[in-house]
Amino acid sequence: MQVFTFFCVESDGSVPRFDVTPCADDQAARLRAFELLDMHHRCDFVEVWRGAHARPVGGSLVGELRIAWEMSRNLMGAWCEEDFDNLFTPYVFLGQPGLVVSDPAAARRILTSPNYIRPVKAGRTLKPLVGEGVLLAEGETWKRQRKSLAPAFTPAAINDLLPHFVGAGAALAEGLADRRQADLSQAFHHATLDAVLRALFSRRADGEGAHLAEIARRYMEGPAHFNLTDFVSRGADDMTWFDGARRRQGRRWFAIVERLIAERRSQPHDRPRDFLDRLLSLRDEDGAPLPDQEIRDQCGSMLGAGFETTSRLLFWAAYLLALDPKTQSKVRAECAATPAADIQTLNDLKAWPLMRSVLFETLRLYPSAPLIGRQALTADEVEGHAVAPGCIITISPWLIHRHRKLWSAPTDFIPDRFLDQPHPWGVEAFLPFGAGPRVCIGASFALAEAQIVLASLLERFEIGLVGGRPVIPIASISLGPDHAPEFTLTPVT
Ligand code: HEM
Repeated sequence: MQVFTFFCVESDGSVPRFDVTPCADDQAARLRAFELLDMHHRCDFVEVWRGAHARPVGGSLVGELRIAWEMSRNLMGAWCEEDFDNLFTPYVFLGQPGLVVSDPAAARRILTSPNYIRPVKAGRTLKPLVGEGVLLAEGETWKRQRKSLAPAFTPAAINDLLPHFVGAGAALAEGLADRRQADLSQAFHHATLDAVLRALFSRRADGEGAHLAEIARRYMEGPAHFNLTDFVSRGADDMTWFDGARRRQGRRWFAIVERLIAERRSQPHDRPRDFLDRLLSLRDEDGAPLPDQEIRDQCGSMLGAGFETTSRLLFWAAYLLALDPKTQSKVRAECAATPAADIQTLNDLKAWPLMRSVLFETLRLYPSAPLIGRQALTADEVEGHAVAPGCIITISPWLIHRHRKLWSAPTDFIPDRFLDQPHPWGVEAFLPFGAGPRVCIGASFALAEAQIVLASLLERFEIGLVGGRPVIPIASISLGPDHAPEFTLTPVT
């Protein structure tokens, strides 16, 4: 049975919840839901969230296929009410044993243990864009790749990239200068691709860059979503009959990346200016350069992992700030005191403590990577739960970050909760970038970029939302909105 669940955080902080159930017709339920929301216009923060209620444990095959269908449209459709209270949920889904782990200490142990690898099926959706790069590699190959990439993500290396982020932020604000209304999700998509292309290739998001943006957008809207064969197959390469679109778009994507690399080889920079220069200059223990395919796959990995996630973070931060004008104006005051153009080192970002907390709180409520999967190599036991070899472990930052046993007021937007945390990574139940040896290599890159791009926008505009239609989070690989709301842009005088 499907339900619509509404969390309406009212002015007094209480969280009434309305379930519209049962619903035979999604659209009808959605309309009914909006009527209810209209009745509760006292709400100052509204979220509509659709989930499947039936847990797929011991359900019928038809029930499980229905959940798979729901998840192919929205991976968040797998969660039900109890998941926000349970710390461990064992299940069997389409014959595959699994364990949802929301206990932060156990989740961190799993993410650190060599007994758990990325699920072999992760490659089905990701490989066409990231090839054999660091995102999917395992074992010794991964270790070597991660080590060779590390110098590109040190604070000093990120400092070198800051002018690229400032440039991308300025281009975003300039592009919106004459607009009084805009689809910011698209604008952020363009800005983050612009930032990552500048940082990777010293290129703007036009020409080849615009093609990459278009392929990435189409991929995320279509082939990135799981299909039925992803759920029933056991390996990365089984039952790939429906994956033609993934392969086609992957070929177009890599053809462009290869052209950008070939161009650089024919016209090298006199001194390293970007990530590609660093990759081209890397040498292994025998002094040999990286093979061409590896350079291509690492560039694809950085593009694939790096821009959609940051663009989502910016979208949800703008959405929350539009719903919370008081916090927005406080963040703007920080940016007025230290404009984005003045940022020269990571240290300068300390001038924006509230902005940083807003981004952390956004990542808590809307983690760009809402699911982290692992697969057990050998039998294990996690806090009394038996784990069979091959068992899928699901660690969902979405669930953990909204868990009722782990957070107070879990669905409220309260950036101040991070204000006194010099290192939010120390907050055990906060893992938007994962944990352990495979923790996101681009976390500082993403946070610096997001702060600079958001500051560039807020310096110039007050942002609001057109109409009151709530935005429903939809997850495939990343967590995006179900529709692209228009934002109002009022120039700051
Ligand atoms: C808001 C932005 C971002 C979020 C929320 C995010 C989140 C994550 C998470 C949760 C993981 C770990 C996945 C796992 O353990 O299975 C990860 C891995 C990774 N991320 Fe990010 N990421 C972001 C931005 C970036 C950026 C900007 C880059 C590169 C420029 C990047 C590159 C990578 C790579 C290469 C990995 C794989 C690391 C490995 O396996 O060793 N990410 N990211």
